Amino acid sequence: MNIIIITGASSGLGEEFARQLDRLFTRIDEIWLIARRKERMEEISKGLQTRCRAIGLDMTEQGDMERFCAMLKKEAPVIRMLVNCAGFGLMGAVARIPLREQTEMIRLNCMALTEMTHLCLPYMRRGSRLIQMASSAAFLPQENFAVYAATKAYVLSFSQALNQELKARGIKVTSVCPGPVDTAFFDIAERYGKTLAVKKLTIVPPARVVAKAIRDCRAGRALSVCSLPIQAFHILCKLLPHELIFHLMRLFGR
Ligand SMILES: NC(=O)c1ccc[n+]([C@@H]2O[C@H](COP(=O)([O-])OP(=O)(O)OC[C@H]3O[C@@H](n4cnc5c(N)ncnc54)[C@H](OP(=O)(O)O)[C@@H]3O)[C@@H](O)[C@H]2O)c1
Repeated sequence: MNIIIITGASSGLGEEFARQLDRLFTRIDEIWLIARRKERMEEISKGLQTRCRAIGLDMTEQGDMERFCAMLKKEAPVIRMLVNCAGFGLMGAVARIPLREQTEMIRLNCMALTEMTHLCLPYMRRGSRLIQMASSAAFLPQENFAVYAATKAYVLSFSQALNQELKARGIKVTSVCPGPVDTAFFDIAERYGKTLAVKKLTIVPPARVVAKAIRDCRAGRALSVCSLPIQAFHILCKLLPHELIFHLMRLFGR
């Protein structure tokens, strides 16, 4: 059985991946959708042509991940593509956000993503693809978004290294680094702080980010950065001293 697995599939970018991959990959037997809100994924499945499994699980819960591991062992599918989208961010000063919520971010964005990747790798074959949702926040440490940016720097570094490791097996990893995307992400992210106005100017629809990510993935590219302003930001982060960028961001943030 050839399958695609998408985490964070109950909304936003994960949901959009499900819709676009369903249209593009007609020789897939099943799409496995993973997130906590099972009913939401069952609704999404109804609009897709490929047979879907809505798998309700909390990726930060060890028991849930063990259940998923057992499911993989039982079904022994060939995973043609894994898309790791589950994640969240919280804006605001480190000292102001409850510690439990910040460590939860690390647990989901870093630990669960690593665990899901590790669980799926034995079922991937030559030509399989891995899409890891990082963020442009990975390019630069960010005050008032410190833990989130650090988790995404982890995702980017981990995924780029993994891409090198998997070359011999013929599996490619694409790290996706969008700037702000118009999803429910901000409902949670702005609980303790506000997005810089300048960032909101660069917001793009999820369909655009996902279409570019799939194109880059099919072309075997290691990095996918959507939209000109974010591509320019990426280059600036490589060229300019970070202290100078911090200063500029503070100026724009006023
Ligand atoms: N939107 C942006 O501006 C933006 C920019 C750059 C990168 N990203 C990244 O893109 C990814 C998707 O975000 P989005 O914009 O699509 O936001 P979103 O609409 O809030 O989607 C987040 C997804 O993660 C799932 N999720 C959250 N906690 C989970 C848990 N413990 N176990 C399993 N699934 C969980 C949510 O489903 P349930 O609530 O049903 O569990 C949901 O499906 C994230 O990694 C985010 O960091 C977003």
